[in-house]
Amino acid sequence: MKNQTLPTIAKLSASGLLAVLITACGSSGSDDTNAAAPQSSAAAQTSSSLAASSSSEQASSVATNDSGVAESCAMLNGSFIECLDFENMSPGAVPSGFNQSGNGIAVVEGEGSYSGDLALKISGASASYLSLANFTGTHWGRMYYKNIAKPSSIDSYSHTTLVSGFDNGAQFRFVDMVAAPDNAADAGKYQHLYNTEPNDLSLEGPYDNSYDGEWVCVEWSMDTAAQEFYFYKDGNEVALANFGTSTNSTDLADAKKYNFNETNMTFQMTPVPAEISELRIGIQNYQQDSFTFLLDDIVIADARVGCDLAAEASSSEMSSSSMVMSSSEAASSSAPAVVVGKADFDMMCKGCHTGAPADLIGGRDQAALSAYINGAMPQGNPSACEDTCADEVASYILN
Ligand code: HEC
Repeated sequence: MKNQTLPTIAKLSASGLLAVLITACGSSGSDDTNAAAPQSSAAAQTSSSLAASSSSEQASSVATNDSGVAESCAMLNGSFIECLDFENMSPGAVPSGFNQSGNGIAVVEGEGSYSGDLALKISGASASYLSLANFTGTHWGRMYYKNIAKPSSIDSYSHTTLVSGFDNGAQFRFVDMVAAPDNAADAGKYQHLYNTEPNDLSLEGPYDNSYDGEWVCVEWSMDTAAQEFYFYKDGNEVALANFGTSTNSTDLADAKKYNFNETNMTFQMTPVPAEISELRIGIQNYQQDSFTFLLDDIVIADARVGCDLAAEASSSEMSSSSMVMSSSEAASSSAPAVVVGKADFDMMCKGCHTGAPADLIGGRDQAALSAYINGAMPQGNPSACEDTCADEVASYILN
């Protein structure tokens, strides 16, 4: 669902949330042993962050969060499929559009947040999650998580799912982690992985993460046409491998199971369908180990959103103001479209287009230039500047 853009800078958006969690896995005891050595994943979807570091001011009124940003969803100006920053909600409420299951999940206030005042707290071992039905298989996700409690001892590889898709008996665990046991060489560390059921098949990242109580930004992309999955931590791609072989393929014909050495088992990995019947955001641990996390600023979108909330903040202020300008009632307001267009251009375009803006005209008139920007720019994330934004940036370029 698209967020409606309101003609005020401080728009509220309790738009949808994502739901959490992972679930039901019939497969308990998946001790993902392996420690697949980190390989190099050549696949380099590099960080797009088109958000050219504009240093313009951001919401400074919130002192109690960790990003200095009050409402991250509002800042995205509707450029998302689902966005959950948990602001403009009452603690304990269920985000609109989501179903909530399990006892270990609640929107909380005053316990820490990445942006704003509220976050989603998930705890325990059994499945507790927010869910959405009939979700697109191809998507980008971005989420911040913070571990605030973990077991005092971990006896065997401890597998926790935070975001997953369910379809027809299959599971696709997009944000997933396995903590190494205390007696392993990697004790104290955990890996991120893409893990699927049936057969507990994985594309695994290295055991190089620690539960240190810091906010972590994770991003993932699932492309069902290509059947490829990419995962990023704090903006950097995590190298994934199936039993030591680097790959991002989610439909491997001969995926090896984590205990391949012991059992010599390979299985066809279930491809992710174009439509997943349910997306879950929350928590489930398959070894009955209890972890507690805060989740915040969860976005599911068609394109990469990135981890820079400050950039989102400045971008939204610009776009919000452009909405004000363009609304007919506000036509008398002070800044002309060209001025707003320049601000948007400086923020979203100048990082790549360092030359004279007029060099970009290419013989187009206002309508053609606006249409081009609307559909193609900023490159890699055209939804960041559509409609009014595209019109105003075109006006600036032509001026
Ligand atoms: C990440 C880098 C990047 C960003 C950010 C970016 N562009 Fe581009 N832009 C490109 C590239 C690369 C091309 C050439 C694309 C092609 O030929 O397919 C291009 C082409 C264009 C063109 C066509 C130029 C011509 O000669 O016909 C226009 C107009 C344009 N961009 C406008 C914008 C605007 C407006 C923004 C900001 C809203 C923007 N771009 C943001 C990389 C970027």
